Amino acid sequence: MTRSDASEEYPDLTSVFDRSLEAHPVSARHRLPDHESLPSTAYQVVHDEAMLDGNARLNLATFVTTWMDDHAARLYAEAADKNMIDKDEYPATAGVEEACWHILADLWNAPDPEKAVGTSTIGSSEACMLGGLALKRRWQHARRAAGASTDRPNLVMSSAVQVCWEKFCNYFDVEARFVPITEEHPTLDGHDIDRYIDENTIGVVAIMGVTYTGMYEPVARIAAALDDLHARTGLDVPIHVDGASGAMIAPFLQPDLEWDFRLERVHSINTSGHKYGLVYPGLGWVVWRDASLLPDDLVFRVSYLGGQMPTFALNFSRPGAQVLLQYYSFLRLGRRGFTAVQRESQTVARHLAAGIARLGPFELWNDGSDIPVFAWRLREGDARNWSLYDLQDRLRMKGWLVPAYPLPDDLADRTVQRIVVRQGLSMDLAERFLVDLRAETAYLELLTTPLPDIAERSAFHH
Ligand SMILES: Cc1ncc(COP(=O)(O)O)c(C=O)c1O
Repeated sequence: MTRSDASEEYPDLTSVFDRSLEAHPVSARHRLPDHESLPSTAYQVVHDEAMLDGNARLNLATFVTTWMDDHAARLYAEAADKNMIDKDEYPATAGVEEACWHILADLWNAPDPEKAVGTSTIGSSEACMLGGLALKRRWQHARRAAGASTDRPNLVMSSAVQVCWEKFCNYFDVEARFVPITEEHPTLDGHDIDRYIDENTIGVVAIMGVTYTGMYEPVARIAAALDDLHARTGLDVPIHVDGASGAMIAPFLQPDLEWDFRLERVHSINTSGHKYGLVYPGLGWVVWRDASLLPDDLVFRVSYLGGQMPTFALNFSRPGAQVLLQYYSFLRLGRRGFTAVQRESQTVARHLAAGIARLGPFELWNDGSDIPVFAWRLREGDARNWSLYDLQDRLRMKGWLVPAYPLPDDLADRTVQRIVVRQGLSMDLAERFLVDLRAETAYLELLTTPLPDIAERSAFHH
């Protein structure tokens, strides 16, 4: 009997990489195979292909959780089959969801958390869409009641918003009014905000943890500017806080900073459970300070324990497991544990930022003292034959993913590089990163001729 005969007759006996699907490349990647494979073979092929991804723990680019403990992994596997929308079949998970957003309403200082309302989502993007839709619908109701036109709603925000806000404006026919960031005003800060607001403004977005740099926007100053505008013109414009990352940092590391429901103008807040909520992707949350701020005509009713449960979501089916994981992380850590975890991330971020500033060619954009995220750029005026894109490539050769990218709009000629420190990037790993960064920077500084620029290089890759 030849070897391949044996493989067909006794597939379980054949060594793993000798079986037919593994011994040849998958022939038609874009067509369903004609025949079955052994589960172990299909597993091996998919497992090996996923191995070609970067190592998630060395991905210093992502905000998303890349480490949870073994108990969380166990819960995740046990709950993988639960659909969040089936509230009738999984009433316990539905109850946990409600407990979680009440916990967030309390953490964000809602005047009466029992009067707040919220929901889980697939991430902050969906949560931001829901926040934006509620602003738009309330504005429409008010305009119709006043007999005014609802044709041209607009939303005011920094030019450094995450792309989900551009999507919201595009998908839901709202004009996006961007306030450009500049060297003098690196975040939206209320300065000159009157110029962007009129009777068609449905709201202002304030970001706690700008994606590009990690900086907080001063929500209280923005609210004060809007209070002033209200007093002068009668325009009463609410704020939605995009706290995708910062809403799970500020309550622990800057508890005295007023950015949340302590400010009356803040109607709603979103966060990503899968960022500093310390849960695997995808989970987001949005909470309104008071149920009256979420127009009832946006809410649908699903069947629940023989009754009806209100839901407000873009998706129907989505995983329920992450909601259970969020509750696990709340119970596991509590306020003290969350404070300790986030403080450690911040200590590591500031250590890294200080180490990078000391190297010489770099200038910090910020130092990780808001959320544990910071960005740097090359010192201006120095002649050199390399860019941050080259440094990104060199670090990638060592396994570290540290992206370089341009800042938005008015600062688009500035390239920065950013690190997001999360639970799991220990001080020891951070030290190893600094050793690699020092070595790669020294290598690049030795170059005597310029490397091809990023546009030439990406043409080559494609
Ligand atoms: C400020 C901000 N808003 C929204 C989002 C979108 O979040 P998600 O990836 O959870 O959809 C992000 C993601 O980085 C973000 O940083």
